Amino acid sequence: MSATFEFAPLLPAGLPPPAAKWTGLAKYSFVGGNNDPEQVPLDGLIDAVNAVLRREGRNLATYGLAHGPQGYLPLRQFLSAKLRRDAGIKATTDDITIVSGSLQALDLVNHTLLAPGDTVIVEQETYQGSLTRLSRLGVKAVGIPLDGDGMRMDVLASALADSKARGIRPKYIYTIPTVQNPTGSILPEARRAEMLRLAQHYGVPIFEDDCYADLIWDGVRPPAIYAMAQNGSVIHIGSFSKSIAPALRVGFIVAPWEMMSRLIALKTDAGSGALEQMLLAEYCTPHFATHVPNLTRGLRVKLDTLMEALNAQFGTAAEFEAPKGGIFLWLKLPDNVDTLKLYQSALAAGVAINPGPEWSTNAAHSKSRLRLCFANPSAELIREGVAVLADVCRREFGVPVRIANVAAGAELSSGQPHLS
Ligand SMILES: Cc1ncc(COP(=O)(O)O)c(C=O)c1O
Repeated sequence: MSATFEFAPLLPAGLPPPAAKWTGLAKYSFVGGNNDPEQVPLDGLIDAVNAVLRREGRNLATYGLAHGPQGYLPLRQFLSAKLRRDAGIKATTDDITIVSGSLQALDLVNHTLLAPGDTVIVEQETYQGSLTRLSRLGVKAVGIPLDGDGMRMDVLASALADSKARGIRPKYIYTIPTVQNPTGSILPEARRAEMLRLAQHYGVPIFEDDCYADLIWDGVRPPAIYAMAQNGSVIHIGSFSKSIAPALRVGFIVAPWEMMSRLIALKTDAGSGALEQMLLAEYCTPHFATHVPNLTRGLRVKLDTLMEALNAQFGTAAEFEAPKGGIFLWLKLPDNVDTLKLYQSALAAGVAINPGPEWSTNAAHSKSRLRLCFANPSAELIREGVAVLADVCRREFGVPVRIANVAAGAELSSGQPHLS
């Protein structure tokens, strides 16, 4: 059909730019939060969906399965037990709301708390989806630098003091404390306590995004900040995207009722997908605890493949620290590399990467950094893709000077990936 009707004059101001048409994933796709297709627990999910549909399928005739706006009760029961066991969170099913991916949680929290001109505090390197949402809302994001242990509390303390001196009360501190995206750090318990102390002192709530908390190599994590808070000032969100599958679009919010009642009032979609919730409850209740260590073991192998490939192809030109879990590696190339440009040329050669500046509030710091997701491509595609990336980078920026350089090869043969 040839479109002749003009919608443009009807569009209100402030809309985001139009979406580009989907052209498919790149051959070597290191972007997004996609997971390992081999690790989707297919047989278990098939059994679970059959069992739950046979038992309760007729409830699909009712919006929200007649379990109310907070979601399917058995899934909230599973989460209540899991959060207590893994994160130290004591949440009843009334403290939990199921949402359509934690992206919906971000939207609900933002729309509840934020207005144009507001200020929030974020980690300097952080989730692009959070940064784009904040900028679309006209909210200023103040980035706090990270080190190997996550957000730096000394800088947070001065940023909060500075805001107060200027009469600004930030609306929240947004943190991804447990396997930070993109840097892969875990905020130690003492820093969590210090963040809470500062937040309380300045009257600022903490918005804790624990999207990757299940994917820690050794499975050991500090308590959630939500669990450590004494005064109900923390909103906690999580997701099944990284532990089971992102296409299911199931996440959750844990919050005190004062906040939760506001969030539910804004969730006007008549409930998140019921079949996905039923499937997850049925599968996860008996299997989650055994599925996750298998998943992380596989992810760790892929990370090692990626680090070895980077060492072989980039040598010392690629600097990185192994993440403590998750699906991303954050790496630094030499200063002359502009990853926004590298991104374009790499994509033309079939390699998709996430350029650093899209994941940071600091353009200069992130200019020559990038994020690679290692979960989705096979080991073979990881190796090939990194080789193509190195080739493109050398053609565009002259680095790495030599492919598969001798020093990196020597380190690899000793079994010690180069981690700087
Ligand atoms: C830190 C963080 N939060 C939230 C999300 C959104 O996840 P989902 O909506 O799939 O639960 C992502 C996705 O990659 C993420 O990295």
